[in-house]
Amino acid sequence: MGVNLSDVTRLIPCSVALLSVATKERRDVMTCGCMFVAEDQPFFIVSVAKHIFSHSLIEAAGEFAINVASEGQAGLARKVGALHGQEIDKYQKLGIQTEDRGAGKAPFIKGSFASIPCKVLTSYPVGKYTVYIAEATDFAVDGAQKPVAWYGDRYFALKDEVR
Ligand SMILES: Cc1cc2nc3c(=O)[nH]c(=O)nc-3n(C[C@H](O)[C@H](O)[C@H](O)COP(=O)(O)O)c2cc1C
Repeated sequence: MGVNLSDVTRLIPCSVALLSVATKERRDVMTCGCMFVAEDQPFFIVSVAKHIFSHSLIEAAGEFAINVASEGQAGLARKVGALHGQEIDKYQKLGIQTEDRGAGKAPFIKGSFASIPCKVLTSYPVGKYTVYIAEATDFAVDGAQKPVAWYGDRYFALKDEVR
């Protein structure tokens, strides 16, 4: 008797990242979950579908920025995660405001809780995805924002601390 595993990954509450990436010629942004490797070293893990445009830009650039989505960016995260950047510039289409960091550098997305530029250390193919382990090289935090969480395909504000 088999167990249906199709929804098992939805059991885990996740972070919401707007992953920005750029080469000298092109730029893109995707929505993804992001996890850290350990608390004492600034390494992060993201998994990126091999067929999407962000994947080809990450492969070319070897770096990206994790913009930790804020409560006010839930709608943006949904839209960014439903559009594909191969033919369109999502920044222009969605009016995404950026802090540009120079040609070939992933822009920071304004209104995010935090922006963390990362250099890819290593990557592994896993089925239809590439799992990237990347090292943070800097970070910026907007203290006026609060991060949003994703759970069961819905977005949630982080509210009261529980003990
Ligand atoms: C909340 C959320 C989380 C997502 N997580 C991932 C992820 O971890 N990896 C991934 O490859 N796609 C993920 N996606 C889907 C991509 O954001 C989506 O395929 C996007 O349109 C890719 O854009 P691109 O083709 O411009 O790269 C997620 C989407 C949403 C809304």
